[in-house]
Amino acid sequence: MSGKFNSNCIFSTLCLFLGVILIFNFIGCADNNEPAVKETPKLDNYILPKPLSYKKGEGEFSLSKDTIIYVKGNNKEETEEIYKIGKYFKDKIKTSTDFELIIDKSLGEMNNSITLTTVNGEKNLGDEGYKLSVTEKGIEIVAYTPEGIFRGIQSLRQLLPVEIESRDVVENHHWNIPFVEIEDKPEYEYRGIMIDVARHFFPVEDIKKQIDLVAQYKINKLHLHLSDDQGWRLEIKKWPDLTNIGSKSEVGGGKGGYYTQEDFKEIVKYAADRYIEVIPEFDMPGHTNAALASYGFLNADGKKKEHYTGIDIGFSSLMCRDEKTYEFIEDIIREVSEISPSKYIHIGGDEADSTSKEDYKYFMGRVSKIVEKHGKVPIGWDPADTSEDISSNFILQNWSGSNKSARETNLKMIISIAKKSYLDMKYHEDIKLGLKWAGYISIIKGYDWDPTNYAPKELILGIEAPLWSETLRNQEDMDYMIYPRVLGYAEIGWTPKEGRNTGEYIQRMKENAKRLELQGVNYYKDPSLWK
Ligand code: ACM
Repeated sequence: MSGKFNSNCIFSTLCLFLGVILIFNFIGCADNNEPAVKETPKLDNYILPKPLSYKKGEGEFSLSKDTIIYVKGNNKEETEEIYKIGKYFKDKIKTSTDFELIIDKSLGEMNNSITLTTVNGEKNLGDEGYKLSVTEKGIEIVAYTPEGIFRGIQSLRQLLPVEIESRDVVENHHWNIPFVEIEDKPEYEYRGIMIDVARHFFPVEDIKKQIDLVAQYKINKLHLHLSDDQGWRLEIKKWPDLTNIGSKSEVGGGKGGYYTQEDFKEIVKYAADRYIEVIPEFDMPGHTNAALASYGFLNADGKKKEHYTGIDIGFSSLMCRDEKTYEFIEDIIREVSEISPSKYIHIGGDEADSTSKEDYKYFMGRVSKIVEKHGKVPIGWDPADTSEDISSNFILQNWSGSNKSARETNLKMIISIAKKSYLDMKYHEDIKLGLKWAGYISIIKGYDWDPTNYAPKELILGIEAPLWSETLRNQEDMDYMIYPRVLGYAEIGWTPKEGRNTGEYIQRMKENAKRLELQGVNYYKDPSLWK
């Protein structure tokens, strides 16, 4: 009896074991398999993100050196703002065309002209929507706000031949633009990328280049991960050792670096001129070794920690029951609030593995209240949503496990699921740069999903693709991991799910890769897509 029982028991255990392996393999395979792509007929336009509606006409308008740009707002300030957008467009096309287009602050008669205006802009298109029409008389972009005109300008750039992005004059080219009526607006208000400047530091010029590049895909948020175990990257005047000491390290032992407050303002201004909002993050209470290395009083033994240059996580924590910690944080939040126009401040909250659950929840509540006191909306990585002390304004950035608490309390969410949207995950196993802990993310896999797979639509603020920089040391490395995948995230954020499909996306992406090439971007040219 007992023998039979034993062999039954061994048999069932074996079956269970095999079953678990089978299920595990099945899930693993499903996740690593490349999603199927349907053949798609050749497209009539390659604008990316795909516009909401595109009605092609018969014929083409030809941009010439005599084309006039008319700019007009509903008041003087708006006209000035639209003038700057006209100037941005003029400068963008000057290099390849050698045209020195005249910009006129009026609504002139449409005739060989580009009109950019908010006059009669429709409110139902929202702040970022626009109408773009191209006829034999010229081009017109009408929007409710200048921001909408800026988004429309990105579509106009992509209606021009790819050579418009050349960094040298292209002689004798016909700069023709097809007749078209476009009506467009975004699906989600938040469409971001994150750059981790803590694991490796990137100078202001590198960040500006990325801002300029992603703006062409209508990305509207840049989240800067400004502190981590390996480095503190923003000058805080009250606590100078954060940069005197805490900034002077990075992964692999490089010299690190930091942004002065003036540098930060310069980045913010450059981004704002491209209608991108910069969101600063200080990761707490874990990921804080650089701060703990800067000031002894932040440590339980009163002693400063050593710099950290490895890539482990989960070993550092601020003291969550010590008032000195909160006075320090309050100074940081105050200084950053003063120089950051964004309505958000990100307070981290991920992988606080050396903080007790109770302390973690208490800490996230306390710090989010400090952020709110300074007039900002706190954002945190999961599991920040599990803190009972955060307010209903708190925004969850959902990257890993659960967003169960956020769903239960109706928190708004930014969807950044690691295995779908992390820009630092390798495209496949042979790629030297990047990490693979969340899996490989091919160009297609990065596109073939929707935020609503992870949260109810009404709670989704938008999508963000984070670039962690443990393995990335310079602009070329960043380019390689960001492009072309970010084009997919830009389209997921802009174009409604029903309007998207992978076959079309590949065509749009490949056409845009030609532009990236002309712009000097070191993008990843997946051999399976460029056969
Ligand atoms: C994270 O990837 N630790 C947010």
